[in-house]
Parts: sequence; C-alpha cells; structure tokens
Amino acid sequence: MTADLSADAYAVLGTDYDAWCHSVTEDIDFYVRLAIESGGPVLEIGVGSGRIAVPTALAGIAVVGVDRSGPMLDLARAKARAQGVSLELVRADMRELPELGTFPLVTVPFRALLHLRDDAERLGVLRSLRARLKAGGLLAFDVFHPDRRDIEDTDGRWLEREPGIMERADWRPADHSLTLRVRAGGREAGMRLWWLGPDRWGRLLAEAGFDRVQRYGGFNGEPLAADAADSVWLARVSGSARR
Ligand SMILES: C[S@@+](CC[C@H](N)C(=O)[O-])C[C@H]1O[C@@H](n2cnc3c(N)ncnc32)[C@H](O)[C@@H]1O
Repeated sequence: MTADLSADAYAVLGTDYDAWCHSVTEDIDFYVRLAIESGGPVLEIGVGSGRIAVPTALAGIAVVGVDRSGPMLDLARAKARAQGVSLELVRADMRELPELGTFPLVTVPFRALLHLRDDAERLGVLRSLRARLKAGGLLAFDVFHPDRRDIEDTDGRWLEREPGIMERADWRPADHSLTLRVRAGGREAGMRLWWLGPDRWGRLLAEAGFDRVQRYGGFNGEPLAADAADSVWLARVSGSARR
C-alpha cells in the first residue's frame, strides 16, 4: 500500500479525516472566540470537514468556507446540515481565490498554509487574504515548524496517531518539507507539506502589508519559545477597529 502523492489526500481520507484529527480540539474555542469577537462573517480558508466552521456557525456567526477538496466540502455540508446550521461553501484554490467580498476575520486553521510550497505562493496567498479583510480586520492562522528532535524522533516511522490510524512523516530538512502519510480504513493518503520558521512567517506577513502582527506559542496566548514547534498568528491591517 503506497499513497499516490498526486491524489487529493483529503479525499482519500474521507470521513476518516475527523477520526485522524480527533485529539485536535485546543484550537476550536480559539477560532470560535475570534469569530464571535469579530461579529462575522468569517472567511475560513481550507475549511475542510467543517471541524471549526460548524462550531462557529453554531455560535451564531456566518462562515464562508473555501476548500479545493470537493469531498471535504461535502463532509462539511453534511455535518452542518446534521447540526441544523448552514455554511456558505466555495470550492476554490487559496492561490486563486474568486471574488468573495471582504470580512472582519479571515482564518486559516490547522496548518493549512503548509500546503504552500514556496515564498511566491505564500506571499501571493497572504496578499490576497489581506485584500479580503475589512479595515482593521484580522487574519488568524497556526502553523508548525519542527525542531531537530521532532524530526529525529519521528522520521520514517509509522506511529499510531489515533486508534487504528497510523501516520508517518518523512522529513526533508534541506528544503523544509515533509511527506506525510496516513493509513486508515485500509487506505493510505499522502501529502507533501512545507514548513517555515516563525521569523520567516513574520517577514512574509510584513511584506504582504500586515502592520500589527502578534505571534504566540499556543492558543491561550502562550509566549512563543525559541524551540516552539507550533505558532499561532494574529495579523491586522490598519483601520479603525481595535483588538
Ligand atoms: C489540515 S486541513 C484543515 C481543515 C480544517 N480547517 C480543520 O481545521 O480541520 C487542510 C485543508 O486545506 C485544504 N487545502 C489544501 N490546499 C489547499 C489550497 N491550495 N486551496 C484550498 N484549500 C486547500 C485541504 O483540502 C484541507 O481540507
């Protein structure tokens, strides 16, 4: 069983996506709280199965969710319907977003920006997200940046991430990329991801025109330690709204 890296890994995972992320819960309250503070609507890029969008809609905030994976959007739609809420879902690539209007809050949760392969793509996306913010609006996202020990501990090893769900990372530190493979339900999904250190994210945000940028080491405002493996970002554009 070997994953086809050119396939949509999220489509291969299908309903197993939520099982794969079962333990990832610490970000939900964070993004829902930002959505409530913003008053909405929220533009969520890489909305996936609606893991965050559905609780946001349940909190009474309208969500426009963008994803390039049709099967993930189908999951989000079904989950929203089952909960008695609706999401506006748009199938699009974040690198070529259609006209969507402007928003007080744009989010890119759960490391979705790691799907971008180089600074040209990252800058293009950050500029286009900035253009979709209202004056004073906020971009919020989280990313990871493994240190040497994370890499040594996990490289090339199948690890059980959730019961019955195996995950393997093959790291390529030379070009800051990894191939992530997930085995679930008799299928194997694989994807390539690219990471950056916090300083580079900070520089890209400044270059994209964000003027007030805060970085944290977690979803509860923890300071970002030098060896942190994850960072959480709040980046504002100028305007009258204040946080
Ligand atoms: C790790 S999942 C995050 C999903 C959801 N936000 C969550 O927190 O569970 C990343 C999502 O980004 C989507 N994605 C990846 N590259 C994309 C791109 N270029 N444009 C739009 N969506 C993309 C994937 O299809 C997937 O649904």
